[in-house]
Amino acid sequence: MAEPQPQEQDTPDDLSSERARAGHDMAPGAAIIDVAHEAARRAGAIIREGLAQTLQVDYKGEGANDPVTDVDRRSEAAIAETIRAHFPDHRILSEEGTTGGQDPRWRWIVDPLDGTVNYAHRLPFSCVSIGVEHDGEIVAGVVYNPLAEELFAAEQGKPATLNGAPIRVSATSELRRALLTSAFGPWEASGRRFDRARALGPHVQALRDLGSAALELCYVAAGRIDGMGGSSLNAWDVAAGMLIVRQAGGQVTDPYGDPFKVDDKSLVVSNGILHGAIMAHLHGASEVIPSKDSTDPAKEPASPNTPPTTTTAADIAPAPSHP
Ligand code: IPD
Ligand code: CA
Ligand code: CA
Repeated sequence: MAEPQPQEQDTPDDLSSERARAGHDMAPGAAIIDVAHEAARRAGAIIREGLAQTLQVDYKGEGANDPVTDVDRRSEAAIAETIRAHFPDHRILSEEGTTGGQDPRWRWIVDPLDGTVNYAHRLPFSCVSIGVEHDGEIVAGVVYNPLAEELFAAEQGKPATLNGAPIRVSATSELRRALLTSAFGPWEASGRRFDRARALGPHVQALRDLGSAALELCYVAAGRIDGMGGSSLNAWDVAAGMLIVRQAGGQVTDPYGDPFKVDDKSLVVSNGILHGAIMAHLHGASEVIPSKDSTDPAKEPASPNTPPTTTTAADIAPAPSHP
């Protein structure tokens, strides 16, 4: 089958002038979104081919139980090469440590393979995720699952798309009809996930953990699932997906109900309609409620080039009294 093609509805010139009108300090040359597509497609080919080959699996992180494969590294190299070819000055924050230029205004936030545990077990549910930040705001995002040939994309101010067609969050209005997923990081991080599952489980249609936070965000955007939550996450897991959900009409907050920021660690995502109901049940779930003003590891940003830690982030635990 053919790979998803770049969207045809806007030419690079149209995109550049639109961003310029929107006040974006657009880099000259190729459009950001086109370069993100190109990088995602190159990485996708590596991911697709790698699934049929023998994988070299190493382990990293606390407890050395977080797998990383040769495909993660080769995917990252292809993405970085693509970004550097067009925007050598742009910074890159990528999970396996590759860096870019020094321009403080632009940052490409890259997960070269999201869903590595799935991938290492040959479960075909993984993707590449590329978000682009400009002056602290995510302005473009692409998530590509080459195993399903699905490319999700969004730009600020435009509808989110799947393979070029607009997508929208679900209209599910009753929690008991809702399918929710979780991306809660390593199991040893906290037992609080079980509290949350116990609190939400009886009120929803079903709970799942699909193993790729980026794809779960896109599935909310496409209306396939009605909400998701996550903790112990890093910027590369969510940078693209958070924009895609928002541009599809969804809501993305931190556990306190404030707008989620890319370097936050924990999030709650929904079609908007169900957000209050999900938050209400999560409030009831937590035994330990981190104070927003105290030292809350959930608020600590990920550092560039630091391997993702597996135990530092607090889990979703909203403060009931927060305004
Ligand atoms: C992981 C996935 C998973 C989430 C983990 C992430 P990786 O990313 O997004 O869904 O629960 O917290 O680390 O390691 O496969 O890139
Ligand atoms: Ca990831
Ligand atoms: Ca990864």
